[in-house]
Amino acid sequence: MMGSMVRIVIGFAVVCGLMLGGAFTSAADSGFKYIGAKKCKTCHKKELIGDQYGKWAKAGHANAFKTLEGEKAIAVAKEKGISGPPSEAAECLKCHATAAGLGAGDVAKKPLSNSDGVQCESCHGPGSAYKKKKVMADHEKSLAAGLLVPDEKTCVKCHNDTSPTWTSFDYAEAKKKIDHSIPEDVKGKYIEVEKARKAEGK
Ligand code: HEC
Ligand code: HEC
Ligand code: HEC
Ligand code: HEC
Repeated sequence: MMGSMVRIVIGFAVVCGLMLGGAFTSAADSGFKYIGAKKCKTCHKKELIGDQYGKWAKAGHANAFKTLEGEKAIAVAKEKGISGPPSEAAECLKCHATAAGLGAGDVAKKPLSNSDGVQCESCHGPGSAYKKKKVMADHEKSLAAGLLVPDEKTCVKCHNDTSPTWTSFDYAEAKKKIDHSIPEDVKGKYIEVEKARKAEGK
């Protein structure tokens, strides 16, 4: 009688643990690992492809960790009863830094840094397998290698009313604000365009 009760309780705890563990990260299950925004930078800082890295680096997501070091964050954390600095609190980092909450098995050789804030892979998925140029240039291959095409569901994991400074979220408007499209004239044919330009000595 007692034995089966214990087993039920343990079973319930295991299920809860799995559910919690899977809420934000599933890299370990897929085998794809996080490589960090600096790896994306090698190709995505080029003007020809649309400088996605530069656009990101200047805006809110890249600075989300820095925000946690500011006066306002400290006040917000105090109000929530968090004793230490918000830049070290898991309750804040989970939405302000990609690196937070990732285990050693989720990350490629070099550790990611919380100071990179919300980087590419929070929205596009861990990049270890899709980062190769030939894979990247092929949409279907990229998807098979773990690339995610972000949509509203991606955003509302963080843009929701559990954020202590929550006001509202309009997906269409927010998407426009962070626009970092590939220019129409190279989209889907970047490798050929780059080759042609090199041949012309540009
Ligand atoms: C991992 C959590 C997370 C995800 C996922 C996320 N955001 Fe954010 N976002 C933040 C945080 C944190 C801030 C506040 C950054 C700051 O100012 O410190 C923010 C700020 C913003 C801002 C205002 C700053 C700016 O750069 O203009 C926009 C717009 C925005 N997000 C759009 C989006 C969209 C669109 C998506 C989905 C495609 C998305 N976000 C997904 C956490 C996230
Ligand atoms: C559920 C995700 C989430 C959590 C958890 C979270 N934040 Fe944020 N935070 C955001 C998003 C998204 C924004 C962008 C603006 C918004 O929607 O409030 C943001 C913006 C901010 C801002 C800038 C707001 C402004 O008006 O300038 C501060 C400061 C901040 N967060 C502090 C914190 C602190 C401190 C914690 C921990 C106690 C925390 N956040 C936890 C998602 C989150
Ligand atoms: C907050 C979420 C978010 C972050 C962070 C983010 N992206 Fe994106 N990215 C998006 C969304 C949303 C789209 C548009 C998806 C769609 O609807 O086609 C997109 C599209 C793209 C595209 C394709 C554009 C096109 O024209 O097809 C590239 C390339 C890209 N992102 C690269 C990056 C790189 C590199 C980084 C980091 C330096 C990054 N993204 C960071 C959300 C994000
Ligand atoms: C070795 C160079 C290289 C690296 C590294 C790289 N990319 Fe790309 N990426 C490309 C090229 C080339 C394209 C295809 C451009 C085209 O022809 O449209 C592309 C396309 C994309 C697209 C659009 C793909 C689609 O099919 O919708 C996204 C999103 C993207 N990259 C995100 C990232 C992110 C995030 C990282 C880092 C984790 C990254 N890339 C690293 C070269 C690279």
